[in-house]
Amino acid sequence: MRKPIIAGNWKMNKTREEAVALVTALKPLVKDAACDVVVCVPFTDIPAVAEAVKGSSIHLGAQNVHFAPSGAYTGEISADMLLEAGVEYVIIGHSERRQYFGETDETVNKRTLTALEKGLKPIVCVGETLEERETGKTEQVLERQIKEGLKGIDSIASVIIAYEPIWAIGTGKTATAQQANETIGFIRRTIAENFCPKCAEKIRIQYGGSMNAKNAHELMSMPEIDGGLIGGASLKAEDFAAVVAM
Ligand code: PGA
Repeated sequence: MRKPIIAGNWKMNKTREEAVALVTALKPLVKDAACDVVVCVPFTDIPAVAEAVKGSSIHLGAQNVHFAPSGAYTGEISADMLLEAGVEYVIIGHSERRQYFGETDETVNKRTLTALEKGLKPIVCVGETLEERETGKTEQVLERQIKEGLKGIDSIASVIIAYEPIWAIGTGKTATAQQANETIGFIRRTIAENFCPKCAEKIRIQYGGSMNAKNAHELMSMPEIDGGLIGGASLKAEDFAAVVAM
């Protein structure tokens, strides 16, 4: 049995004060959650949110980590810096990072290897564009992202994968539960074939892309879907709690 994991991806939203207000409101609403609950917050919110979630069921995540231990990487952040601040999870290779900040399968791989080596729990994002889906390239793209992005990782079951079709992110267009289930099934088979069948059974694979209180139940009832990476609907305590409750 895989324990579902619902993670909020706040993206570039919430000042420190707003962040504390949000997690303070969220705490009582998710205290009996049957799944793992994570909030992935902007860097400057980390210390305040780490303090605010102490003793609660909410786990803290960041949205990126660099592969080097330190050095001349302006604008980046190291695993040690995140760990020291109380971070447990980290999103890697989100499509917005790939699209706007030149993230590639190779940098995703390096960041993921470092995160695991340091003891952070990586949430590695994969997903196809609309054009790739419409031209029948979805499986080819995902296979490449999985093989290259997770190359050389032995403890593959400690990784969390977020399948986020790019055309569904922030658009209000969700993949149907059937589509998401089939595609996540394909990702799991790819892991079984390229890594190990046992880890494929264990690894948790989330769906992400316009997931909210209305569609979460159907998505979460699918056998292959082990949770969600939630953008827009994670920015209000009641909305996020409603997804967690599914
Ligand atoms: P969305 O974002 O829920 O707003 O579509 C999901 C994500 O990008 O992680």
